[in-house]
Amino acid sequence: MKPRTLAANARRNANGGVRRMWRWRATRAAAWALLERHVEPGATVAVVGAGNGHDLPLRRLGRRAGRLDLIDLDPIALRGTGRRLRLTGVRATTITQDVTGGVAELIVRDAVAQRPVRALPAPQTIGAPPYDVVIADQFFSQLLYPALSDSRLPPKAVNTVLRAHGQGLTNAVVAGLVAAAPGGVVICIEDVLGWWPGRDQPFAIEEVLASDTPMPLIERGKSARGANGRAALALAGAEVVEHAFWRWPFAGGTDYLVCATVARA
Ligand SMILES: C[S@@+](CC[C@H](N)C(=O)[O-])C[C@H]1O[C@@H](n2cnc3c(N)ncnc32)[C@H](O)[C@@H]1O
Repeated sequence: MKPRTLAANARRNANGGVRRMWRWRATRAAAWALLERHVEPGATVAVVGAGNGHDLPLRRLGRRAGRLDLIDLDPIALRGTGRRLRLTGVRATTITQDVTGGVAELIVRDAVAQRPVRALPAPQTIGAPPYDVVIADQFFSQLLYPALSDSRLPPKAVNTVLRAHGQGLTNAVVAGLVAAAPGGVVICIEDVLGWWPGRDQPFAIEEVLASDTPMPLIERGKSARGANGRAALALAGAEVVEHAFWRWPFAGGTDYLVCATVARA
């Protein structure tokens, strides 16, 4: 049987569509404004959660980097992204890897079978380290939620699993990212808050983007459960260098606030 975590993420990636490339152009520009300050020419760079490669400026990143590794659970999305980059003259190595080392899958299987969850998250070797820069590309919220949401578990049970196991898993994954960039930089790009019909926040996305102190506002919002990369970076002992924020216009009527945290490993 295909792992549930792979099936759920691959299904969402397959629905991606090239229109996103156009819709998300400002998102890539905002990401580049940050990345170009932290990726030195010739750097060895890993992008984890690269998927369809629509939300990050991979072409510019590939031209700047000496080596670009694209890592994802979904080999089909990765293959398409690698092929598209090659057509523009950019070489990237694609690495199919579940960065939880199978633990997300075990958690989901136990939860769906309604047995106690037995898996213990542990940091994995990510890609082919060492890297100068490791970028986590909006995937913490996707480690458990898609597979749980596609199962027959009721929403309350899904939330219980996320609350019990999500953050421990995110902490282990982030520890692996930090270990993959010894002396380098880890950039956690997170979809911290979402707005869509029926999902309101106590403030508008424009307020956060215009604020000089967005963090306290963000803490007041309704975020994805068990997917806090900022907390995981602190736990891993990484030193925060800067934060940046931008809008991710995911689909018509759905916006996410992106928070990127740059930290020294
Ligand atoms: C929301 S997408 C990120 C957006 C993507 N970069 C794009 O532009 O389409 C999250 C990605 O994380 C990947 N992912 C989810 N769980 C993973 C895991 N355990 N290991 C590696 N990648 C994972 C998914 O396959 C998906 O491609």
